[in-house]
Amino acid sequence: MKKFINNLPKAELHLHIEGTFEPALMFEIAKRNKIEIPYKSVEEIEKAYHFSCLQDFLDIYYQGASVLTKEQDFYDLTYSYLQKCSEQNVRHTEIMFDPQTHTDRGITFETVINGISRACDDAEEKLGVTSLLIMSYLRHLSEEDAFKTLKQSLPFKDKITAIGLDSSEKGNPPSKFKNVYESSVKEGYIPLAHAGEEGPPEYVWEALDILKIKRIDHGNNALQDPKLVNEINKRDMALTVCPLSNTALKVVDDLKDHPLKKMMDLGLKVTVNSDDPAYFGGQVNQNYIDIQKALNLSKDDLYQLARNSFQYSLLNNEKKQRYLSELDKYYFEMSS
Ligand code: ADE
Ligand code: ZN
Repeated sequence: MKKFINNLPKAELHLHIEGTFEPALMFEIAKRNKIEIPYKSVEEIEKAYHFSCLQDFLDIYYQGASVLTKEQDFYDLTYSYLQKCSEQNVRHTEIMFDPQTHTDRGITFETVINGISRACDDAEEKLGVTSLLIMSYLRHLSEEDAFKTLKQSLPFKDKITAIGLDSSEKGNPPSKFKNVYESSVKEGYIPLAHAGEEGPPEYVWEALDILKIKRIDHGNNALQDPKLVNEINKRDMALTVCPLSNTALKVVDDLKDHPLKKMMDLGLKVTVNSDDPAYFGGQVNQNYIDIQKALNLSKDDLYQLARNSFQYSLLNNEKKQRYLSELDKYYFEMSS
């Protein structure tokens, strides 16, 4: 199974670039930027990565991101993740980045986007991994702040495909961002959002009906409302599920209790993703490996999950079909 998963062509659709910041690279960048971090060793960092909820994690995640100051830092962070994609047979990835985490510290939008997008261009050329960018608004900040970010993004519109909504979910419902989503869509961005990770099913309804999202990040709590499950199926929307993130943030107590298979059985279009791999103990392939073992998934289930990852990506039809053919060829050869 492990070999089958490692070689399975796949896409990753839920990934925060700031969440790929491995301790070794964090030390290297902190040192060259002469920034103090509150850890002396990789072991100390790893010890600190135990979380009781989303907020607990976010406090540490924003602190880690604060050593990124130069365009080259964003380049190195992104290229390092894309190299891991190449090693795992992730053929395509849709990368979220949080501009406000950086612009609030005085780093320009241009620094962030140029570093990330240059790494994406190089990875496509050198590693054959394709990527699209999702600009995520921080939901604990105001809608006015999100509008500022939207405005800053406009000169770089050609580099950004979609918008997302992340950070502290509880108390920050999707409706708070109604107007900025409307304006972002008018600018050509595809609307996506985290919903139902810690928040109630009502937040998923709002993300669907008010923000008019095209894909749901997480969506676990949608299962509490059968009408909502029907609606998601009716709209043919995918859920970007993150098994190891869910156990690390106590959204799910144990992987054996994870609802992923139940979601599939209900007809939901599920994909498997790593969310913040440097913090949650595994890259995307580890997520596939661990959830396969915990839920005893078949090769056909894994094929379906990989198929969804291309099918529900934001790629154009021609590119989707190219990747789907590659996947089908692999699966056919492995099954015959
Ligand atoms: N930012 C990074 N990871 C996140 C998650 N799992 N939920 C919300 N915001 C995030
Ligand atoms: Zn996320």
